Amino acid sequence: MNRVVEERTKRTEWYRDARFGMFIHWGLYAIPARGEWVRSVEEIPKEEYDPLIREFSVENYDPKIWAKLAKEAGMKYAVLTAKHHDGFCLFDTQLTDFKSTNAPCHRDLVREFLDAFRAEGIRVGLYYSVIDWRHPDFPHYGDRNHPMRNRPEYSNENRNFDRYLDYMFGQIRELLTNYGKLDLMWFDFSYDNMKSETWKADKLIEMVRSIQPHLIIDNRLEGSGEDSGSILTRNPTPWSGDFASPEQMIPPAGIRDEDGNPVPWESCITLNNHWGYAAHDHHYKSAKMVIHMLVECVSKGGNLLLNVGPNAKGEIPEESVQILKEVGTWMKKNSRSIYHCGYAGLPKPEWGRYTRNGNLLYAHVMEEQAGAICLENMAGKIEKMRLVSDNSEIKESFFWNLKEYGQHAFFFFDPNASDCYPLPDELDTVVEITLKEDADGQ
Ligand code: GLC
Repeated sequence: MNRVVEERTKRTEWYRDARFGMFIHWGLYAIPARGEWVRSVEEIPKEEYDPLIREFSVENYDPKIWAKLAKEAGMKYAVLTAKHHDGFCLFDTQLTDFKSTNAPCHRDLVREFLDAFRAEGIRVGLYYSVIDWRHPDFPHYGDRNHPMRNRPEYSNENRNFDRYLDYMFGQIRELLTNYGKLDLMWFDFSYDNMKSETWKADKLIEMVRSIQPHLIIDNRLEGSGEDSGSILTRNPTPWSGDFASPEQMIPPAGIRDEDGNPVPWESCITLNNHWGYAAHDHHYKSAKMVIHMLVECVSKGGNLLLNVGPNAKGEIPEESVQILKEVGTWMKKNSRSIYHCGYAGLPKPEWGRYTRNGNLLYAHVMEEQAGAICLENMAGKIEKMRLVSDNSEIKESFFWNLKEYGQHAFFFFDPNASDCYPLPDELDTVVEITLKEDADGQ
């Protein structure tokens, strides 16, 4: 295993156990309330967008409420946007006046976020956009995404990209130096020639590792949601990241490198269809969908980073709150089938998914069955079974109609029933199966 992979594996141990995190996209774009790309999509000039800072009062911002909600939902880490592509800084940077401490709230929103989530025992990360549509030295005309990309009058003469990199490095140094121990930095994102060497990523990762060596970072100094970069190869670059970051999807079979070694990863997914607050987007996923996404990620050896987009008052939308509370109720009963769990090394069963932690196999039953639940090819491998929600015994069944399927093991939730309908928990009923020591060898 090469050194980059070895160090990555060590650094990400807590992360691979945590499995479930909160992503928070928040900034001035919560005022237009049409998502965090509004400046680019609607090609809004700086002169029109900048005055929004004068309205950013965040009068109801209380990150302690956010942190308690994350904890209730069973989330073990949280990542807040310190600066998104629009260049607005939620922290008291000395390198620009386009920051929250100059807004009517006069607050360092990042510092308050870090304090509140640490107080709840939740690990903390910051998202930092290496793209900056507001900085005068960042490419404008002809760039793929810049709000002024179609305006020749914003040509790129006289832009000094090295001066932009000094700004970017300076802000990242501020975040790593002035805000205590961070657990994670989420850089976003690379595209076309705007990657790796363009960001001086070799120097940047040296700086990051020298200031906070334990910190884990994502793969977007060279990748994005559509290109994982060299983290998938046998020779990952020093800035390839500690985890891959598939976006708005769950990889079909998890993520492994070209030698088949598992690569740490998280699917980052929104609750509705926007990262930043979108007032008219009420297309929210159900708690059941979130639980199934979380189980799917863990069953494939990955994490779920689930996004909330607070509004301009600093409130997480009520729909998101209700979903996270319902997820939390399920997590309270079943979280040992999520934390410290991963790929089970078994084919996906018809009725749901498996997660595994050593010799503890978790059957996540998500679909009712006409007869018994079938544990394929598990005959003779099971020491005992328990319903995770109440630790009650689940007995292996040898019902008369199962006799000719002897290579499998079966169970009913209700020993007096002849079907598995309805499920004890229609969101996902979890059974803990303690495997016999030699189960894998059989
Ligand atoms: C994409 C979007 C960005 C968002 C990120 C989250 O890069 O462009 O707005 O912050 O995904 O993964």
